[in-house]
Formats: sequence, structure tokens, C-alpha cells
Amino acid sequence: MPVIVIANPKGGVGKSTIATNLAGYFAKQGHKVMLGDADVQQSSRAWLALRPGSLPAIAAWEIENGHVARPPRGTTHIVLDTPAGLGGARLEEVLRIADKVIVPLQASMFDILATQAFLEGLKSRHGNRHIGVLGMRVNARTRAADQLAHYVSNLGLPVLGYLRETQNYVQLAAHGATLWDVAQSRVEKDIEQWGPLVNWARQ
Ligand SMILES: Nc1ncnc2c1ncn2[C@@H]1O[C@H](COP(=O)(O)OP(=O)(O)OP(=O)(O)O)[C@@H](O)[C@H]1O
Ligand SMILES: [Mg+2]
Repeated sequence: MPVIVIANPKGGVGKSTIATNLAGYFAKQGHKVMLGDADVQQSSRAWLALRPGSLPAIAAWEIENGHVARPPRGTTHIVLDTPAGLGGARLEEVLRIADKVIVPLQASMFDILATQAFLEGLKSRHGNRHIGVLGMRVNARTRAADQLAHYVSNLGLPVLGYLRETQNYVQLAAHGATLWDVAQSRVEKDIEQWGPLVNWARQ
């Protein structure tokens, strides 16, 4: 039962967007997925409450007072959203159960600098194998994307892909939906961009 944690102490980089869409992917594949939310804002939890019953089910993994407990039996996949500013003992607790950590990162020097210590800490804790960086709101064919790739490869970590800036994520989230819940033609480009990420996540 893989536990995939989405983390970056920097706020607003797309953690909840990735957590909800990744959970939506597993649900669409017919897996018994749970989405946990270690965030006091409970963004993913609030999103789940919006999700129509007609869409592939995603169960809520309750996290009490920020403490992660064992998920229920029968669960096959777990995606865990985390808050900005997560560090110290709470971060340790989350990482202890993580099989994989996805770190969304925007392609700006400020974001990179804000995330550097976190990535280095993760690396020494987990080893490279379990950590992947996802370029967020970035066009893969730009200098900014090259800079991000250069920085991430210098740390010895993989770039799992790049997600473009699009209102699709904003609009889908407002309805408790993901890329996998709507007509493919509407989100074709985005589904394509998720290819390498979901391959890495499900291995
Ligand atoms: N690729 C994208 N294109 C356009 N908008 C995006 C994209 N990714 C995320 N957003 C939007 O950016 C905002 C922040 O994203 P999100 O809430 O996923 O970040 P977060 O890291 O979870 O934030 P926080 O640190 O506050 O928990 C949201 O309104 C989201 O819809
Ligand atoms: Mg969030």
C-alpha cells in the first residue's frame, strides 16, 4: 500500500492540486484510494466534501490533531496532502510513513531558494529513490524550466515532469473533480503532462 506524500514548506505551490488529482487518478484506475490531509486549512478535505458521489470514490483519511494513524484495511493507495510550513516533529511523523514524496516546485529563484533546505533534508532522510520534484505552472520549453531542471539534477533528484499553468485545475477543484473525471478532450494536454508522474507514483 504505497503512501505518497505531497510536500513543500512553501505555500501555494500546488500541493493540494497535485494531491487531489493524484488521488483522482488512482480512483479512476479502480483502486481503493484514501486522501489524507495533514493541513489545518484542510483544503483536500474540503475538496472531498465537494466531490459528487457519481465520480470514482476517494475516501477521506482522518488525521486527528495532525497525527497520522494507520489507514483502514482494504486501502490500496494513500495520498497525503500537507500544509505549508510543515517542519520539525510533524514533518518527521509524516515522512516516517511515506513511501514516496512529491515536491511541487515553481520555476522561480525565490521558490527554489525557499525549497532548497527542505529538499536537502528530504534527501538525507529518504535517499533519492523516493523523492521526485514536479515543476509547477511552468512551460517545459522555457529557460525557467531548464533552470529548474538544472537545479534539481544538481541535487541528484529526478524532475517528474512539468504541469502548465491552466484554469482547468482551478475549475475542476471547484467541483470536487480531477482531470480524470471530465471529457478527455477538454484536458488532453494536462493528462499528457501527468504521464511520467503517474508512472513514477504507481511503481
Ligand atoms: N498548474 C496550475 N495552473 C493554474 N493554477 C494552479 C495550478 N496549480 C495550482 N493552481 C492554483 O494555485 C492555487 C494554489 O494551489 P494549491 O492550493 O494546490 O497550493 P498549495 O501548495 O496546496 O497551497 P498551501 O501551501 O496554501 O496549502 C490554487 O488556487 C490552485 O487552484
Ligand atoms: Mg494546500
